[in-house]
Amino acid sequence: MEVLVLPTPEDVARRAAEVVIAGLVDAARAEPALGLATGSSPLGLYAELATAVTSGRLDLRSARGFALDEYVGLPERHPQSYREVLLREVCRPLGLPPDRLHVPDGSGRDEAALVAAAQAYERLLLDAGGVDVQILGIGANGHLGFNEPGSALSSRTRVKRLSERTRSDNARFFEGPDDVPTHCVTQGLGTVLDARRLVLVASGAAKAEAVAAALEGPLSASCPGSVLQWHADATVVLDEAAATGLRNRDYYDASASGLPEPVTRRPKAW
Ligand code: F6R
Repeated sequence: MEVLVLPTPEDVARRAAEVVIAGLVDAARAEPALGLATGSSPLGLYAELATAVTSGRLDLRSARGFALDEYVGLPERHPQSYREVLLREVCRPLGLPPDRLHVPDGSGRDEAALVAAAQAYERLLLDAGGVDVQILGIGANGHLGFNEPGSALSSRTRVKRLSERTRSDNARFFEGPDDVPTHCVTQGLGTVLDARRLVLVASGAAKAEAVAAALEGPLSASCPGSVLQWHADATVVLDEAAATGLRNRDYYDASASGLPEPVTRRPKAW
């Protein structure tokens, strides 16, 4: 796990965009798959990626986008449905064709329909060859995707109830707290772990406790974000405020400064 701590949220967005672009280049696939988070955390990162698209450094026309999650029960085209959010925040500014955006289907009217939609999403991810780079945020309660505390570490895409903490945190996107859906369809933690590279961004003091628990606490369903510790290629990009709870900060900073200059080999004296 690589932990990069930068002064401001703007720096976080810029650096995370570089990591995402490098991941897509490394994937070297004709149709790379980009995993998309919603919420406030990745907005600056998406804006940086949009700049890279405008300048010709990044081209997502043949990429595929896979959302982490979707609310259950919002009317079609609701502006806060994650499909609509991603069409607005990602497809348009980044030139990702809307028909190449995939979002779990939360429109099912009964449990069987939602379960079938979740399983179909798993198959879609498999058929696409998996996600190359997964962008992530973290909830103040440590959730990843909408895997709330207590979620199985090996879980797959499924229907989940949202915690009251998450519902009140997300009420800012709706007219009132009661308008926030109670359920979602979310990739499981096992699904997220299948992505080849994870890039988590977090800014602000409200995330400090969750970040510290995810990065330095035990690997535990009580903090779903702790599955990052299990992934072989995870980069966490934080601003100073989100990093205040970290105990190993010195080590992260030292590691981020890179390898030493190559040691000059001296000829043997004997
Ligand atoms: C969104 C998602 C969530 C958010 C998390 C943080 O698709 O999966 O895990 O990343 O709730 O939300 P913000 O960034 O709004 O604080």
